Amino acid sequence: MTLLVTGGAGFIGSNFILDWFRDCNDPIVNIDKLTYAGNVANLSSLHNNSKYVFEQIDVCDSDALNAALLTHKPDAILHFAAESHVDRSIHDPESFISTNILGTFRLLEAGLKYWQTLAPKKRQSFRFLHVSTDEVYGSLGPTDSAFCETTAYAPNSPYSASKAASDHLVRAYHHTYGLPVVTANCSNNYGPYQFPEKFIPLMILNGLSGKAIPIYGDGQNIRDWLYVGDHCAALRLALHKGVPGETYNIGGKNEVANIDVANKLCEILDELRPQASVLPHKSLIHFVDDRPGHDRRYAVDTSKIERELGWRPRESFKTGLEKTVRWYLDNAVWLDNVSGRTYEDWVNKNYGQQEETL
Ligand code: NAD
Ligand code: TYD
Repeated sequence: MTLLVTGGAGFIGSNFILDWFRDCNDPIVNIDKLTYAGNVANLSSLHNNSKYVFEQIDVCDSDALNAALLTHKPDAILHFAAESHVDRSIHDPESFISTNILGTFRLLEAGLKYWQTLAPKKRQSFRFLHVSTDEVYGSLGPTDSAFCETTAYAPNSPYSASKAASDHLVRAYHHTYGLPVVTANCSNNYGPYQFPEKFIPLMILNGLSGKAIPIYGDGQNIRDWLYVGDHCAALRLALHKGVPGETYNIGGKNEVANIDVANKLCEILDELRPQASVLPHKSLIHFVDDRPGHDRRYAVDTSKIERELGWRPRESFKTGLEKTVRWYLDNAVWLDNVSGRTYEDWVNKNYGQQEETL
């Protein structure tokens, strides 16, 4: 099978591609615009792999999408490409509307046109797997049940609203045109190659460099954390066994308040970096102004994907966090390269007014 992946130079996409080639040798074509979040260095180990092809393409560019599909003739499309950071969506919503909504629409159009040219057998086995988020369901109260596939959409940020819109378009292309789509709504991921503007790598980076660790609001917001490799395994199952038109929720069954994540990470850093100039690392934790519209709690009911596709998360939060911190410690050059000038500009924009030490 030939797989066309969008956004494969980002965090989850590059983990997916690396895991894929560890387990099999079927070709992957990775199309990515290479925004600030895309990093071809993540995939440098595949330089000599003739089964891996990279093309720099914006998913909003219909001509380039049509050409890539005609050239590579994929058996499936796996759509990761998106603007993915809630804080950035608050500062600059327009790029989220463009990539997440218009880009998904253009990819669906190109995918549909291509799919309609396939021979009946290939048409039947073709899949368009759309990677989405649990954030489309909105925010839970402390005693609410976890999100299931039938929970009503109630997105609260420009990011989640744009992902919700893309989910609806994907659904409509199945219902109206019969395109064999599958949608996966996953909770917060962590692991190697995550850009250090997201919570866990930001805390690791700041902890390592002795900078303040910013916690929004009271630190009691809850996320359901999943190790990225477990998400990638779920996506492989959804690709091979997912039923067209169905959606699958994916999560770690691992609800943790932000302040507890920060404390755990600080303890791991104390253990792995006992010579750090600031000890204990917990002394770096600073509460800062809350994010506007900050969702209080996410939790995901994963019974459908467990029952129907036989998926289960394998990594515990304890082992996953330790592995993640060790990866960042072992990849200081990667971290250095991504946290340059553009990154500093972002930090100043998002946190600048609040805290001199950030
Ligand atoms: P990321 O921001 O790390 O990577 C996004 C990738 O998409 C980058 O390589 C970027 O260059 C590329 N891209 C952006 N705009 C593009 C465009 N117009 N055309 C082509 N490529 C473009 O994101 P991620 O964390 O890897 O997330 C991947 C997908 O998973 C997203 O759709 C996101 O909504 C979803 N998701 C993420 C999480 C999470 O915790 N990170 C959880 C659930 C779902
Ligand atoms: P984030 O990684 O941005 O993911 P999302 O907003 O998509 O869940 O943030 C995870 C949680 O951590 C979220 O509740 C916001 C919080 N957070 C902080 O407290 N401080 C920070 O500096 C960042 C980036 C996030």
